[in-house]
Amino acid sequence: MGKAVSTFTLKKYKEEGRKIVCLTAYDYSTAKILDRAGVDLILVGDSLAMVALGHKTTHAVTVEEMLHHTKAVTRGAEFALVVADLPFMSYQVDQTQAITNAGRFVKEAQAQAVKLEGATEHNLQIVERLVGMGIPVMGHLGFTPQSIHGLGGARVQARTADDAMHLLTDALALEKAGAFSVVLEMVPTTVAKIISKKLSIPTVGIGAGVGCDGQILVTDDLLGKYVDFKPRFVRRYANLDEICTDSIRKYASDVLTGEFPTDAESFAFPEGEEQELLKRLNVQQKVKQ
Ligand code: KIV
Repeated sequence: MGKAVSTFTLKKYKEEGRKIVCLTAYDYSTAKILDRAGVDLILVGDSLAMVALGHKTTHAVTVEEMLHHTKAVTRGAEFALVVADLPFMSYQVDQTQAITNAGRFVKEAQAQAVKLEGATEHNLQIVERLVGMGIPVMGHLGFTPQSIHGLGGARVQARTADDAMHLLTDALALEKAGAFSVVLEMVPTTVAKIISKKLSIPTVGIGAGVGCDGQILVTDDLLGKYVDFKPRFVRRYANLDEICTDSIRKYASDVLTGEFPTDAESFAFPEGEEQELLKRLNVQQKVKQ
């Protein structure tokens, strides 16, 4: 493995035309697997609200829960850049709230960057302040799950020239505010490609086609472990849901039939000790009678 990935590495990759590989993780062992496999950026996405905690949207996850999971991920990632999602309502209220919460992800959870959704004036000011304090920020545009109700569902964004121009303006504003990268979610391929060309910082696509500088997926989607629904942009590389269910059924059957555990999976009591124990139990038995 090479050197640890920084935001500078990602910029260099864009300049070299080397695609950036990103995935989500919410725990230590998954982070270790991604890191070992050479993933450049690990996002502790607020998708964990749905994927790991079983909520219907990303809204319910708290700063404390996100911190808890981010701590586990940073312990497992040696090389990949770890970015923590700022959850819903942890940065929208005012700058003090946003800075305090973002700071906790770096200070307490050892994340190297944070991500927030949208490019409102408020958000742009936050990005500028955080970057000024040495906290790298990743933007997130297009379909922004924290605004799912306002957007009328998980729909493809920027489907008109007008909306595409707005999206480009937002992406450029995030770049100007100092963001080191922008996620583009559920955006037509052509629009994402144009934005990627116009920006000097890398874009990371999810349902945004092949023209982005990098790609991200939710790891549990890619592995077929989270199967509540499958967005069109997900490619399944494994079917862990089936593999895990089969393995656990086999375990249950082995427990029920006594085939698990074997002697090799248990600890022997030394021969002499066994005889001694039986002798003492015998004596005890006789005393009772
Ligand atoms: O929360 C998340 O997992 C995300 C990505 C999929 C981009 O925001």
